[in-house]
Amino acid sequence: MSMIRFDDVSRTFERDRSSIVALERVNLEIADKEFVAIVGPAGCGKTTCLRMVAGLEFPSAGSVTVAGRKVTRPGPDRAVVFQQFALFPWKTVWDNIDIGLRAKGMAADARRTTIERYLKLMNLSGYERAYPHQLSGGMQQRVAIARAYALDPGVLLMDEPFGALDAQTRVVMQEELIKLTRVNPRTVLFITHAVEESVFLADRVVVMTGRPGRVKEVIDVKAVRDEHQWDQCERIEDVMDLESFVRLRTHIWKSLRDEHGAPHRAAA
Ligand SMILES: Nc1ncnc2c1ncn2[C@@H]1O[C@H](COP(=O)(O)OP(=O)(O)O)[C@@H](O)[C@H]1O
Ligand SMILES: [Mg+2]
Repeated sequence: MSMIRFDDVSRTFERDRSSIVALERVNLEIADKEFVAIVGPAGCGKTTCLRMVAGLEFPSAGSVTVAGRKVTRPGPDRAVVFQQFALFPWKTVWDNIDIGLRAKGMAADARRTTIERYLKLMNLSGYERAYPHQLSGGMQQRVAIARAYALDPGVLLMDEPFGALDAQTRVVMQEELIKLTRVNPRTVLFITHAVEESVFLADRVVVMTGRPGRVKEVIDVKAVRDEHQWDQCERIEDVMDLESFVRLRTHIWKSLRDEHGAPHRAAA
């Protein structure tokens, strides 16, 4: 059974007495423990898709289901990591992660082990007592990701989580996230407009059309990654040099570029 399902999902927004068709008949299935990235031009409805899975937004037509149930509201089975580091500024790193685990009713011992584990995996050991303002943007986002993973939700939703980071930090974060997902496979829906990032991270990449957003094509990255053994590479730079990587990246890049050139088909 698929973990996330979009069935003929359309979404129209009313604005200033005109309507904007943001999404048009989106169909997509994401398997349990699969990592899927959505790329597409600005305004094509990526965030709207994610918000629908989160239960913060709803289709005008069609349906979104998670684990076989139609999404009607947010829930603890789905954790969201936004672009802006949404940490509690008055709480330490430790407490920022702990608060969700407490809410789940986890026992103190289990909470401690869980927090330590994810802090270690995200290279944050030693920063337990720091407050968000004492950390760089990259570190704050690592805390947000550790927090989301520690909650152990069935589905992780990330909306351009590295969008606010500088290029070097971003690469480090991508490496950390790859490490984390290889150790802890989870169902992830990851939104980005960065093509390379989508290819590094995802098992499949969904390319969307310009507005109204539709699924243009779906690329099976995992098949290529496994065949050409990208996981043997120590660093992202080494993956970037592989011919199989370059081929995929260029393919997606061209596919997206066509969409940037396309006129908007809906009344704005
Ligand atoms: N609440 C809203 N009200 C009106 N229009 C919206 C709303 N949310 C999104 N839109 C419009 O829907 C389209 C898709 O938005 P969004 O999902 O944020 O795109 P993306 O994340 O791909 O940039 C855009 O044209 C945006 O202006
Ligand atoms: Mg967006």
